[in-house]
Amino acid sequence: MEIHIKNGTLVTAEHTFAADILIEEGKITRIENSGIPSTPGQKAIDASGMLIFPGGIDPHVHMHLPTPAGFSSDDFLTGSRAALFGGTTTLIDFVTPSRGEPLCTALEKRKAEADNCLTDYTFHLSPVEWRNTLPEEIKTCMEAGIPSFKVYMAYKTSIGLEDEDLRKVFQAVAEAGGMVTAHCESGDEIETLRNDFAKNGQTTPEYHPLSRPARLEAEAVEKAIGFAAEANCPFYIVHVSAAESLKFIRKAQQRGQKVFAESCPHYLLLDDSRYRGTFEQTAPFVLSPPLRKKADNHALWKALSDRTIQSMGTDHCPFMFEQKKNGLHDFRKIANGAGSVEHRLSLLYTYGVLQNKISLNRFVELTSTQPAKIFGLYPRKGALQPGSDADLVIWNPEKEQVISVDTHHMHCDTDIYEGFKTTGAPEYVIADGKIAVEKGAWTGHLIKGRFLKRKR
Ligand code: URP
Ligand code: ZN
Ligand code: ZN
Repeated sequence: MEIHIKNGTLVTAEHTFAADILIEEGKITRIENSGIPSTPGQKAIDASGMLIFPGGIDPHVHMHLPTPAGFSSDDFLTGSRAALFGGTTTLIDFVTPSRGEPLCTALEKRKAEADNCLTDYTFHLSPVEWRNTLPEEIKTCMEAGIPSFKVYMAYKTSIGLEDEDLRKVFQAVAEAGGMVTAHCESGDEIETLRNDFAKNGQTTPEYHPLSRPARLEAEAVEKAIGFAAEANCPFYIVHVSAAESLKFIRKAQQRGQKVFAESCPHYLLLDDSRYRGTFEQTAPFVLSPPLRKKADNHALWKALSDRTIQSMGTDHCPFMFEQKKNGLHDFRKIANGAGSVEHRLSLLYTYGVLQNKISLNRFVELTSTQPAKIFGLYPRKGALQPGSDADLVIWNPEKEQVISVDTHHMHCDTDIYEGFKTTGAPEYVIADGKIAVEKGAWTGHLIKGRFLKRKR
């Protein structure tokens, strides 16, 4: 289908300008500020008063993630539908192999799980142990289109790596020409703190943040930056939550080291007061790293505007409350994570752009263009230009909503943003040249997400 979008205001990472857009066969084919004449048979959309952004790219989601409390409650179908409702048209999820499983075998399995994804998608691949075949496996994955490898410094009883193994992974990824991404929290100290609290009978969710203090994130950030420097490996730090971490990131960036940082809306908009209350009130906020202090929220907003942080993900990892209840008597067993893939754009627009914390162009950069550039998808994604995929959002800047579990589309029976008011929402969402959302409603058009082969 040909789509002709008229009279809109295009917003890219660099510019804001009025133009018409023509979409043909899944690609943007023309952008003209003097207008494009309509032809019969085209679907015409009048975007007067609307903003047009490149489709959002969420660089950090966990659909159908296996955990001891069961799978995260959104699979690729429900999660990608929710993402589209919110204006996100590309998802980057993870491949987490079992011990001993070759990386590429795990990648093929994960691709099969994502076969019903409605948005285009790709993965970061997580080595969960060191073995001598890993350098070759990493190279093979790179040839298969996966150039980013995620390591965990936390979760030492399951997927976390020891320091010596982390060093070897940084080295192997650097030699293959890839990038390492990391969950930075010092795992051994966290295990000790968690177990000490539990031994003392301190088992409610309020002990979750106390067992994962900000200093243990900052310390891990500093250490991992050191490993990346030793190996001369580009490095991306996921879900930065603490002001203390930012000083190490800034220092590395000032030295010219290739260090990128991501944060998530919950670290900007929520704080650790959410851990005070009943289990029902607090368990939905058990996620890692935990919510921090208001001062951390402020520091992170500043880091978005001064460019210390380059990318905004969600770490979307929802669970049903029944899964959270796994840890009713032991916070260590509460399913760890929360969903927000649907809310990233509207939250950042409302609380960032409209409150003058970031510009409109910076909003596009953080939610789309930079994730595309960092992870090897640009300019196919993250851009409004002829030749780019026709993934775009026609944004109604006036639309007011109140976030609620009753109206969200994520497969989850709680919402950590319940009651948050937002201004600005997608009016249309176009993915691969097909209209997924029209006037805020699902169109039912058959959309089939594709696995994206990436290159650094
Ligand atoms: O609490 C979280 N973030 N759960 C998902 C796994 C992770 O650490 O990213
Ligand atoms: Zn993590
Ligand atoms: Zn995560």
